[in-house]
Amino acid sequence: MNVLDNLDRIKEIDKNGMLEVEENFYLQLLDAREIAGRADLEKIKGKNFSGIALLGMGGSGFAGDIIKALIKDDINIPVEIVKGYNLPSFIKNGWLVVSISYSGNTEETISATDKALERGCEVLIVCSGGKLENIARSNNKTIIKIPAGVQPRGAIGYLFFPAYLALDYLNIINIHSRDIEEALDLIKEKASLYKREIGIDKNPAKKLALKISSYLPIIYGTEGLLAAVAYRLKCEFNENSKTPCWWNEFPELNHNETVGWERLKETTGKFILLVLREKEEGIRIKTRIEVTLNLIKENVCEIVEVPVEGKSKLAKALSTMYLGDVASVYLALLSGIDPGPVEKIESLKAELAKLN
Ligand code: F6R
Repeated sequence: MNVLDNLDRIKEIDKNGMLEVEENFYLQLLDAREIAGRADLEKIKGKNFSGIALLGMGGSGFAGDIIKALIKDDINIPVEIVKGYNLPSFIKNGWLVVSISYSGNTEETISATDKALERGCEVLIVCSGGKLENIARSNNKTIIKIPAGVQPRGAIGYLFFPAYLALDYLNIINIHSRDIEEALDLIKEKASLYKREIGIDKNPAKKLALKISSYLPIIYGTEGLLAAVAYRLKCEFNENSKTPCWWNEFPELNHNETVGWERLKETTGKFILLVLREKEEGIRIKTRIEVTLNLIKENVCEIVEVPVEGKSKLAKALSTMYLGDVASVYLALLSGIDPGPVEKIESLKAELAKLN
């Protein structure tokens, strides 16, 4: 029996229960919505901001990526992503800074948050505790406290949803409730399809993991929403499956990477290309994708077109991310790897902590 259909073996390998976290993603989103509903945002309500900065690294940083991709075409103030120690000088008094860190202890996010506080920005903190919670409380800043206990990347519902819903509550954006219901319904449906009890023959997440098996995945998305998702999936394959993985986005990749498939064919023959495809691609993007795939199909072992499901941007982003997230956990299990621990990240953080 394949390991992906062997429930005892899955339990043995997945010591930290990453698959269970993924299987419960729908419930996490429901809980996250409730947390957002209970959040006390009165201190920042009713203000007109000149821009929004979304701070965060890694799994927490993705919350900012997806929020930016969802809102950037519908608001008339700048939305800036900050992934690092510094805060660009144009982010100052008048800006809303949303600082997101699951642990609350990520030094880059703390450093940029400190700078936002020094500059008199309005600050909203999303964390499960740690130093950022103390910073919020001692500066009398608004905090959305989320439950601790899972890997940050597995807490994406908690990291993303309350911050996104808060922007709606603050009248910065206008989220349609039908989009939320559509996204939740789609995730619920997919959760029942991707769970461990559904065998390889009927489970799209297991099938995707099996397709990738010993190949190196490359993920292509299109600018905006699907580029954000492509990057998320690259990180999930890195962190859950412990595999090298790269990503890129149309149309930019047509101006460089498209040429970069000519050398090392023996190596790239072990790469599998996953392309995130929307039904609504405009003719120019559709042509770019199709011509590109034709040009490089001999240089990779296989091209897998991943259809993006859903009508709203929210449903599209969450459902495509969810397929990749679960597939990355199955890919780990298929390789006998525990998807949970990220020892290299932990040891790096420990080395840096010695500098304090
Ligand atoms: C680990 C993970 C990492 C962390 C990152 C920042 O599961 O996803 O990418 O998210 O190291 O840590 P936090 O999220 O605690 O700010």
